[in-house]
Amino acid sequence: MSKVHIFDHPLIQHKLTIMRQTSTGPKEFRELLEEISMLMVYEVTRDLPTVDVEIETPICKTTQKMLAGKKLGIVPILRAGLGMVDGIMNLVPACRIGHIGLYRDPQTLEPVEYYCKLPADAEERELLLLDPMLATGGSASDAITLIKKRGCKHIRLVNLIAAPEGIAKVQHDHPDVDIYVAGLDSHLNDHGYIVPGLGDAGDRLFGTK
Ligand code: PRP
Ligand code: URA
Repeated sequence: MSKVHIFDHPLIQHKLTIMRQTSTGPKEFRELLEEISMLMVYEVTRDLPTVDVEIETPICKTTQKMLAGKKLGIVPILRAGLGMVDGIMNLVPACRIGHIGLYRDPQTLEPVEYYCKLPADAEERELLLLDPMLATGGSASDAITLIKKRGCKHIRLVNLIAAPEGIAKVQHDHPDVDIYVAGLDSHLNDHGYIVPGLGDAGDRLFGTK
């Protein structure tokens, strides 16, 4: 069974509360999502391995630590996952970016795939799959299946807000994928929206409604 990591850091919780509010417009929403993503990736990458390297400071030679092991890749799920990219790139500028295009059919709530482009060496990377919302879990689960079909084995799912239903689905379908969330909400409403949630993340991010 995969682990669920919930971030209870006061800065993250404060920023998430502002994002949830109806009165928060697209500009502030985008900025806050970028900031929270940066704070989250700091913790998501906490267990990355390091290696000792010998360097020379202006004072002396010394052995210090640098990142080792698999290189990182990030894969935002379009559209809303795009809002998490810049915050992560601020901290991990060398990571490569793939894109998965999925939208949730409003009637069936089933995900519909329309795009997938991953880094050429994606299967050798530790991949962070990004999407602010984990609702039914259909989109995230399908995206993980898609990535796995391309040979990728090391995947972490990073969401801003999750519903218990989405977590259960991903854990059932992909017990090897750990989930990192800033907020674990109560349930889904009849339209598949997270309650209390923040509404439609893509629309709020891009001002399309
Ligand atoms: C939203 C969200 C997730 C999905 C979550 O995207 O960004 O991708 O819904 O729902 P699920 O867990 O029930 O699958 P949406 O389909 O609205 O597409 P958009 O980002 O293009 O607006
Ligand atoms: N997608 C969203 O953007 N918000 C939800 O609450 C559920 C799915």
